[in-house]
Parts: sequence; structure tokens; C-alpha cells
Amino acid sequence: MRETGNIYLIGFMGVGKTTVSKKMREQIKWEEVDTDRFIVSEKGMEISEIFEKFGERYFRDLETNILKKLAKEGGKIISCGGGVILKEENRKIMKESGTVVLLTACADTIYEHVKDGTDRPLLNGNMNPAYIEKLMEERKPYYDLAKDVEITTDGKTPLEIAQEMIEILGIKAKELE
Ligand code: S3P
Repeated sequence: MRETGNIYLIGFMGVGKTTVSKKMREQIKWEEVDTDRFIVSEKGMEISEIFEKFGERYFRDLETNILKKLAKEGGKIISCGGGVILKEENRKIMKESGTVVLLTACADTIYEHVKDGTDRPLLNGNMNPAYIEKLMEERKPYYDLAKDVEITTDGKTPLEIAQEMIEILGIKAKELE
């Protein structure tokens, strides 16, 4: 991994990117950015409202703009929205500016994490494991294209996942001080 590269956490909605990136921040003391939260605070609107008013394409462009900005900065843990991998441009930006870590979980685990949420417009009206499984299958090729490293999360705590990532990425003691 490049000294100043970012760590991009990608993976399906509800896999735990935000929780794991917070654990990473506690462990390695790098700044942490969540692209969804960034968009919500910049626009002053919830994600579902942005989708409703401006459409998915507009939201995807907002994601690209943030990635471009963060790619220049480096040295951050970036928790990405689940659909960030759909655009080739986004995959390229991430690959060129850091290491892309894919977090995976089975559809039932994902369902348990997302079932009570209301701000995932793509799951509204489709909140069931079968639909989640179908969307996961559709997206798998894009996740595979985007990832440098994959970590399965089923049955692991956020701390265990963060520690596994630190080991795989070989983040050095100096960076852990
Ligand atoms: C999306 C995932 C969401 C959010 C938006 C679209 C997706 O983020 O960006 O609702 O297309 O998978 P999380 O993965 O953090 O839920």
C-alpha cells in the first residue's frame, strides 16, 4: 500500500462499512470519512430525498465528486456507499489513489442489518433477503472489479475485521503510533 494512499471500504448496503471504518480509525488513528454522511451534510438532505428529487444518477455524480476530492488528499479511511462501484470512473479513482477493501456478508446477515432502516431508497419496497441476494449477485462483478482485497465479515466483530484488515494491508507500527 502506498504510504499516503487512502483505504476505501466497499461492499453491499448494511455490510458494516461505517462501523468497521470507525474501528479502523480507533486502531490506526487515520481520519475517517463516510461518503453518504458527507453528501447528506453537504446537501442538507437525506439520501432518500436526494434520490427522490434529483434521481440516482445525480447521487452517483455526487459520489464521484467526493472521491475526486479525497483521492487528492490521501491517508484517510473512506467508507463508501454500496453503489459506488457501479461507475467505472469511481473504480479507477479508488484504485489509483489507495487500496480498495471489499467487505462481504451473506444476504441474511445483510437483511438483519438493514431491515429496520428507512434511508436506503434502493431497498424501499424490496426489504427482503431474496431481493438483497438478487441485487448482490447483480453487483458482484463490479465489486470484484473494484476490490484489491476481500474480507468476509460473517461471525466477526468490527474489531476483528479491523485487525484483519490492518494485518492484510501491512499497516506498519510507525503508522499505528
Ligand atoms: C446505496 C447504498 C447506500 C447509499 C445509497 C445507495 C447503494 O449506502 O449510498 O442508499 O446503491 O448500494 P450504504 O452502503 O452505506 O448503505
